[in-house]
Amino acid sequence: MLNFSSVLTLFVLFFVSANASAIDKVFPGNAIINSSINDVDTICKSLVQTQGYACEEHKVTTEDGYILSVQRIPAGRSGKTANKPPVLLQHGIFVDAATWLLNSPDESLGFILADNGFDVWLANTRGTKYSSGHTSLSPNDSAYWEWSWDELVQYDLSALVQYVHYKTGQKLHYVGHSLGTLIALASFSKQEKLINMFRSAALLCPIAYLNQIQSQLTKVAAQLHMAEGLYNLGYHEFPPGWDVLGPILEKICNETGCNCSDIMPALTGPNCCVNASKASVLLKHEPQPTATKNIIHLCQMIRTGTIAMYDYGSEDENKKHYGNPNPPAYDMRNIPRELPLFLGYGGQDMLADVDDVEALLNDLKDHDKGELFQVYSEEYAHADFVLGVNASQVVYHPMISFFNLH
Ligand SMILES: *[C@@H]1O[C@H](CO)[C@@H](O)[C@H](O)[C@H]1NC(C)=O
Ligand SMILES: *[C@@H]1O[C@H](CO)[C@@H](O)[C@H](O)[C@H]1NC(C)=O
Ligand SMILES: *[C@@H]1O[C@H](CO)[C@@H](O)[C@H](O)[C@H]1NC(C)=O
Ligand SMILES: *[C@@H]1O[C@H](CO)[C@@H](O)[C@H](O)[C@H]1NC(C)=O
Ligand SMILES: *[C@@H]1O[C@H](CO)[C@@H](O)[C@H](O)[C@H]1NC(C)=O
Ligand SMILES: *[C@@H]1O[C@H](CO)[C@@H](O)[C@H](O)[C@H]1NC(C)=O
Repeated sequence: MLNFSSVLTLFVLFFVSANASAIDKVFPGNAIINSSINDVDTICKSLVQTQGYACEEHKVTTEDGYILSVQRIPAGRSGKTANKPPVLLQHGIFVDAATWLLNSPDESLGFILADNGFDVWLANTRGTKYSSGHTSLSPNDSAYWEWSWDELVQYDLSALVQYVHYKTGQKLHYVGHSLGTLIALASFSKQEKLINMFRSAALLCPIAYLNQIQSQLTKVAAQLHMAEGLYNLGYHEFPPGWDVLGPILEKICNETGCNCSDIMPALTGPNCCVNASKASVLLKHEPQPTATKNIIHLCQMIRTGTIAMYDYGSEDENKKHYGNPNPPAYDMRNIPRELPLFLGYGGQDMLADVDDVEALLNDLKDHDKGELFQVYSEEYAHADFVLGVNASQVVYHPMISFFNLH
């Protein structure tokens, strides 16, 4: 009942894609997870220049030593240099910047923004294929994976925003998907001076609260402390090999009575508008690894219904890290009211599900009314917001109008 592709769907649960059967057809067997796939290509070379766009590769080093790769598309297809502000695009978990470039130029946000005159910057989170460098560590060291999304807030986002701001001399628009929204919201809620470098933020499939998540399997995996178990066994990079994860998932599936041969729709929601034949292109780039600790942190949110820093699991350990027995909270009500926000969410999304998004909107109820824009699509699920063939009409054009106002 549990096959490899269905396990893959768990890896990509915060993101992907068509439906399980489409992926099964395109990717039988274990050809999917193969870290040796063509590592020499850069994103600029393989996905941007091939479409006729100029592209620059940049490297940004975070304060804690991670060397992130960033791509810049400085001009539209016509060659006309951007005359609008920079936009930083931050992908979600288990993917990288390729996610913004996989459909045709008329369908992919990275290209659409460039063609609309924006100066496009594409982030790649630490640990992903093109951002696996570090000043002293290698991904083979478990210390390399000793982080959760707290560090993405504190170090990655901060370094990227400052870099783009420095290079362009301009405040930037931000687009996040999924985990890319959580780190922005957490950063905004801390009201640090970084916030002055943002013009506005568009949050697609916003993740703040996770406790009403619809997916039974995800909930059970969180309740069973699956990620903690893996971490304690020494698997600090996630996903570990199939040999490790397969039996665990099989057990969870058996015990919950989940039909694991069909878990994709059960996890991400039925994506209405992802072109299944694009799955092959997509899966050449994904899934990208993350830290097991990052998964643990997300599971803590599912279990507790709070948005707080990583919980070290004991009062003593938390005191050591935070000077407090409990991890400090990120309070969404602290997000500055005048920060222009655009929220795009979908009725079929089982990760950024409507109830959890409404809890976030409730926290934002005092936000300046003119500065909070919402696009809701009844048909859209999690991946439609980045890969939907008609996302340009449903989400991107309203987003561009919003950017043009700011
Ligand atoms: C992984 O990719 C390499 C290079 O493309 C190939 O030679 C190898 O057979 C692949 N391994 C698996 C397990 O698919
Ligand atoms: C990591 O380990 C693999 C397999 O043992 C090895 O091939 C690779 O060179 C190592 N990478 C680094 C950066 O040490
Ligand atoms: C799960 O159930 C199947 C069929 O009932 C069985 O063959 C398999 O051994 C079970 N696996 C585990 C890990 O319990
Ligand atoms: C599980 O889902 C698959 C695909 O939808 C279906 O073919 C199969 O019959 C289902 N199995 C059970 C036990 O419901
Ligand atoms: C889906 O992708 C294929 C291959 O790129 C393309 O031929 C087809 O026209 C696409 N369909 C839609 C609806 O965009
Ligand atoms: C997008 O595609 C879906 C599925 O085909 C359709 O239901 C929806 O009406 C489309 N939306 C727009 C704005 O074209």
